[in-house]
Amino acid sequence: MINTQLKTLKIVLAMAFSALGSLNSAHADITQTHGVRIGDRIVRFAPSMDIAKSPPPSLAIIAPTPALGPAPQDFPVVPEFSTDAKGRVGFNISISKGTSLYGTGEVPGPLLRNGRSTTLWNTDAYGYDEKSPSLYQSHPWVLAVRPDGSAFGVLADTAWRTRINLTDGIHFISDGPAYPVIIIDRDSPQEVLIALGDLVGRMEMPPKWAIGYHQCRYSYYPDSRVRDIASEFRNRKIPCDVIWLDIHYMDEYRIFTFDSDRFPDPKTLNDDLHNQSFHTVWMIDPGVKAEPGFSVYDSGTEIDAWVRTAEGEVYQGEVWPGWCVFPDFTRADVRAWWADLYTDFIAQGIDGVWNDMNEPAVFNVKTKTMPVDNRHEADEDLGGPGPHAQYHNVYGQLMVQATKKGVMRAQPGRRPFVLSRDAFIGGQRFGAAWTGDNTANWHDLEASIPMVLNLGLSGQPFAGPDIGGFGGDGDAQMFARWMGFGAMFPFARAHTAVQNRDKEPWMFGAEVEVTSRQAIERRYELLPYYYTLFHEASINGLPIARPVFFADPADPALRSEDDSFLLGDGLLISAQVTKNADRAPVMPKGIWRKLLLSGSTNPDLPTLYIKGGSIIPTGPIMQHVSEIADPPLTLIVSLDKSGHAQGTLYEDAGDGFEYLEGQYRMTRFIAKKAGDVITIQVIVEHDGLSNSIKDQPLTVRVRMDHEQPDAVGVGTRGEGVKIDLSRIPRPN
Ligand code: GLC
Repeated sequence: MINTQLKTLKIVLAMAFSALGSLNSAHADITQTHGVRIGDRIVRFAPSMDIAKSPPPSLAIIAPTPALGPAPQDFPVVPEFSTDAKGRVGFNISISKGTSLYGTGEVPGPLLRNGRSTTLWNTDAYGYDEKSPSLYQSHPWVLAVRPDGSAFGVLADTAWRTRINLTDGIHFISDGPAYPVIIIDRDSPQEVLIALGDLVGRMEMPPKWAIGYHQCRYSYYPDSRVRDIASEFRNRKIPCDVIWLDIHYMDEYRIFTFDSDRFPDPKTLNDDLHNQSFHTVWMIDPGVKAEPGFSVYDSGTEIDAWVRTAEGEVYQGEVWPGWCVFPDFTRADVRAWWADLYTDFIAQGIDGVWNDMNEPAVFNVKTKTMPVDNRHEADEDLGGPGPHAQYHNVYGQLMVQATKKGVMRAQPGRRPFVLSRDAFIGGQRFGAAWTGDNTANWHDLEASIPMVLNLGLSGQPFAGPDIGGFGGDGDAQMFARWMGFGAMFPFARAHTAVQNRDKEPWMFGAEVEVTSRQAIERRYELLPYYYTLFHEASINGLPIARPVFFADPADPALRSEDDSFLLGDGLLISAQVTKNADRAPVMPKGIWRKLLLSGSTNPDLPTLYIKGGSIIPTGPIMQHVSEIADPPLTLIVSLDKSGHAQGTLYEDAGDGFEYLEGQYRMTRFIAKKAGDVITIQVIVEHDGLSNSIKDQPLTVRVRMDHEQPDAVGVGTRGEGVKIDLSRIPRPN
């Protein structure tokens, strides 16, 4: 393997140096590798120097990445390009023994991807399982972690159908023309992800309500049912921020319409829900019912917005409303038209938008999508006119990009929230993701953890599954367990399919209701921590839910652990994902103390551990994220071996964009133990908020060893807290 790499390296160097000056060779020899440096230890390789130096328009990279010089001589990862019998361009990267592979986006099955393959071709994958070759999203991306914990990332800059085969090293093969491959080499997987964020962009800070708990089903209707669901949550004191409206609100599934019997007055419904402090998210699919007289069809037809067949006819495919036409989102004018459609829609008091079926899904055809030879009149900056095969994997993302713009324009000054089923790498810039139509079985319950983790390792931090399973009923125990850890995912929403039993948290009996309430309460107790992690992800692109191996990337024992996950660096969530609860977590070395929140003795809930050296900011249980203005803060402190701990807290208005102009507060907490005294210092690193918090009470709970109760102290955020252990009575 090393020999092959050296050989390739020699070719790279030879080509890089000789060809930098003479870039006009018309025909690339695609068995050779050319590389240019585009950043610090970031090299763009291609099978021709033309492509390496000035690649075709990228659908993944957000800013130009000019060539800075030849690839460094000692660059450790070099792809070897090749073509197969069909002329498809591929490349190989050999890996050293003990290298663990991750990423590849939304993939079913375990976290560790060595030995697995996936085909990047966005597919309506209802009822998927571990053998499904393609799900809803495409991420031409592999994160490789070497035995010593150093890491590299591989980004193939193509949106064409691509197969990633990880059975023997890293192998990509793609339809379509030759493409560049970007390699990021770093000392840790975390640093690789930060560099990936620089290239493909990051999630923006969502509105705070979107970080609360979401309740969905296919579908809540009529409006009285939606009101009932909202009241049940409040009456039963189960925290909830968002109620979702699936396709039955529409007039015979015509997008941007409301069924006049079921939802005669959506504005009043939304106003009333807002008065109970709920937000609502409503679904919009891409298929437009092909029906003259339907305003969306008519206005789109006026600008000739629709995707056409290879023969030049307007293409029609069947989806929920029957025969539909499909906007050609590869055109800026079509995206602008689409964005405008949201103005009247959002004016109904709608808070967020759910874009579904945007692979695009088409019924009653074997391929489940439109023909690959359909025509897109794509703008030149995307790559110019081309077949659907070229744009299939970005179709949904371009739709969501336009949706986000429309939502922002329709509610100026508010942060947009869009959820999308389809995405391409970089999708986090436009919306959150859920893992599509999973099934209520133990396999999918278990797989939901690694699916969220691999999405995070592919750049998308805001993701979660349908908690409780979309297909099928499941049972009480499964629901309790799934809710138990599902409520801890960055995106926490229960959802279920139309024919299933009701699955609201109280529908499986009193015991499951208690478990669900506790699970969701924990999310709200941890809200200050979640919000801080969301902010961090928006700045550096690190996932919110992280694999356990992030705690120690050089520890081989952690590489395949995916029954547990980390939230940030400081918290480990250890779930019981088998029916018999018969697995023990693989814990990282060092100190991990149990964190006690709501339901800490409930065996259906995950066990939470706080890392020695961490301080986790928590708050009171609230029924929705803004129930209490300036909620009191409780710091949970877990000291490390030397008696130190630290943590941060990010705060802002929870919505709006003023935080981008400095209207936020960043606070650092430092705990130190000297003798019997633990001092918790509060350092306000940036104070851009007008409310004074100096006199606000600050409670500190220091987790002690050997099952001793917490050492508790109270002070203020202005003064900090001192705890004198010698004054706290201790049991013998
Ligand atoms: C798709 C979505 C699902 C939704 C259903 C009806 O199957 O994945 O979440 O409920 O369509 O809109």
